[in-house]
Amino acid sequence: MSTNPHAEALRFEDVTLRFPGARRAAIEDVSLQVGRGKFVAVIGPSGCGKSTILNLAAGLLAPTEGEVHFAGERVTGVNSAAAYVTQQANLLPWLSVRSNIGLALKFRKVPKEEREARVDHWVRLVGLTGFEDHYPRELSGGMQKRVSIARALIYDPSIVLMDEPFGPLDAITRLKLQQDLLNLWEEQNGTLVFVTHDLNEAIYLADEVIVMSSGPGTVRRVLDVPFARPRTIGSLVESPEFAELYNDLWGLFTSELQTTDATA
Ligand SMILES: Nc1ncnc2c1ncn2[C@@H]1O[C@H](COP(=O)(O)OP(=O)(O)OP(=O)(O)O)[C@@H](O)[C@H]1O
Ligand SMILES: [Mg+2]
Repeated sequence: MSTNPHAEALRFEDVTLRFPGARRAAIEDVSLQVGRGKFVAVIGPSGCGKSTILNLAAGLLAPTEGEVHFAGERVTGVNSAAAYVTQQANLLPWLSVRSNIGLALKFRKVPKEEREARVDHWVRLVGLTGFEDHYPRELSGGMQKRVSIARALIYDPSIVLMDEPFGPLDAITRLKLQQDLLNLWEEQNGTLVFVTHDLNEAIYLADEVIVMSSGPGTVRRVLDVPFARPRTIGSLVESPEFAELYNDLWGLFTSELQTTDATA
C-alpha cells in the first residue's frame, strides 16, 4: 500500500481480465504500481498480456476482477489523462505532420497562436524540421514514430502509455529514437509505461522493469534499474552494472522458456 497517494500514478490491485469466451484469463491477479514521474518498462513474451495492461490503464478495457486506479481514483471509463502510443503509428493520413502533432491541442481548444508555437517547438524536438507539411505516407517508418511520439507528449499528459513504439524499426533508427525519447522524457518528467520485447531497451530507458510470464499473464518480478539520469545509452552499455542487469533479465527469460517448453 502506498502511504502517499500523490506519489502514485497507476495501481493495479489483483486485476484479472478474461475475454468473453476465452478458456483462460489473459492476465490473472496482476498487482503493480507505477510511481509518479517514473519510467516503467513492461517486458514479457508475446501474448503475456502487455497490451492488455495498457488497455486497462487507458480505460479501454475493464477488469473482470480487481481494480485499476489512476492518480488515486478508480478507472471506470476512458482515462482521458493518458496519452496512448499504440503499436502502429496511427497517424491520420489526411492530415499533415503539423496537424497530426497539434491534434490534441486542437481538441483541448488551445488558442491557434499558442498551438502553432508549441507544434513548431515539438517539430524541432523530434527532428522533423522541413517536414511539417508532409503527409504520413511521405514519411519513413522512423519519422512516423517521431510524429506519434510528439503527438503524445505535446500536451503534457499525466501519463504516457507506449506499446512497443520502436518495434518494427532497424537497429540504428531504434537507438537514435531511444536516446531521443530518453532526452525528451528526462526534460518533461512525466510518468511513462513502456511495453517492449527488447531487454536492452528496457534497461536503457526505465527506472523499473516489470517482468511478466504468460499462460495466464502474471507479474513475475520487478527489477530496479539504478542508473543515474540523464543517461547516455553509449556509456550505459559499457558499464559492468549494465551487463549484470542484462544477465538478471536474461536469466528470468531463459527460465521462462524452459517452463514454456515443459508445458508445451
Ligand atoms: N480482443 C481479444 N479477444 C480475445 N482474446 C484476446 C483479445 N486481445 C488479446 N487477447 C488474448 O489475451 C492474451 C494477451 O494478449 P495481449 O495482446 O495483451 O498480449 P501481448 O503481451 O501484448 O502480446 P504481443 O507481445 O504479441 O503484443 C493473449 O492470449 C491474446 O490472445
Ligand atoms: Mg501487444
